[in-house]
Amino acid sequence: FTVDWDAAAAEKGGFDSFMAKEIHDQPAAVADTLLGRADAEGRLTLDELRIDPEELKGISKIIVLACGTSAYAGSVAKYAIESWCRIPVEVELSHEFRYREPIVDEKTLIVSISQSGETMDTLMAVRYAKEQGAKTLSICNTNGSTIPRESDAVLYTHAGPEIAVASTKAFLAQITATYILGLYLAHLRGNLFTGQIKDILADLGKIPAKIQDILDRGDEIKDLAVSMAENQSVLFLGRHVGYPVAMEGALKLKEIAYIHAEGFAAGELKHGPIALIDDGQPVFVVVPSPRGRDSLHAKVVSNIQEVRARGAKTLVIAEEGDEAVKQYAEFVFYVPETPTLLMPLLATVPLQIFACELATAKGFDVDQPRNLAKSVTVE
Ligand code: AGP
Repeated sequence: FTVDWDAAAAEKGGFDSFMAKEIHDQPAAVADTLLGRADAEGRLTLDELRIDPEELKGISKIIVLACGTSAYAGSVAKYAIESWCRIPVEVELSHEFRYREPIVDEKTLIVSISQSGETMDTLMAVRYAKEQGAKTLSICNTNGSTIPRESDAVLYTHAGPEIAVASTKAFLAQITATYILGLYLAHLRGNLFTGQIKDILADLGKIPAKIQDILDRGDEIKDLAVSMAENQSVLFLGRHVGYPVAMEGALKLKEIAYIHAEGFAAGELKHGPIALIDDGQPVFVVVPSPRGRDSLHAKVVSNIQEVRARGAKTLVIAEEGDEAVKQYAEFVFYVPETPTLLMPLLATVPLQIFACELATAKGFDVDQPRNLAKSVTVE
């Protein structure tokens, strides 16, 4: 798979980079991944899976196998699928999985997540799990690639070809596909009623427009990124589904702006990382909805206070209407309201824009960052 960069240049759609274009492709990536799989009545049609529904009813656990950004999509999926399906979901880094003698049997469903479908670490892990008797399902963005071909079933994401090495639209499409899978399993196994599924699908159907709302306000983030181009270190905090979002925000900054960035579970702060906070240390905080389980919101607001009291520059991603964060934030970017489990589809977008704009401000090639390849086909 080689890219004809000149011909492709015309395809940047007027954006400075493929990454910028693909960030702006995200409303369509989510909508197209939903298209045709769910109807307005809350009925899901996943005939493409080709796994006997009776077998899916009988699984006792799910193991997600993925690397990098795709593993963070798996971490988001864990919260949603465990909540909706009451099945244990283990998220495993593919390259660690088969060296730790994992517990896999015929009642295990392997869900591999891979944009390229060629990541050797993930392919080898899927092969290992198949040898152990597990059913394998691939969530993949590249039709006909190796991992789906070697899996029992595939649920393709429809993000379109992702050219930039740093994954953006595929990430949101992967999360969307895991939600569809989770709702399908919850329906099969009777954990959710059709009405509940219908409501969640209705909320999912509103996500593309909400992503567009964020993209339309991208300049707020661009100005912040340009002002921080010289920073050497940025921390990212998140809780619950905001934790994988924080990890993904850090990875984006590492891989395209070459800045040391680290994501933490916000609750972990006082167990060590808070020692990193000194005067002016930029800290992004992904804040849960105040409408959700309010204990989480209050806890994360107190995390913002804790780091700010030690001199941090607090950069907050919060839900529209959340006034409680203002008094402790140097900068707040508001994302539209959405149910907690769907929030990663929105909160991730400003962090993608931040990394892309900061790296662009530094004059880096955001599409082909140093040392990285789009598909890691070696172990
Ligand atoms: C994402 O920005 C990175 N380029 C990288 O972590 C990527 O997600 C990882 O290599 C997995 O690739 P895959 O989804 O094609 O398997």
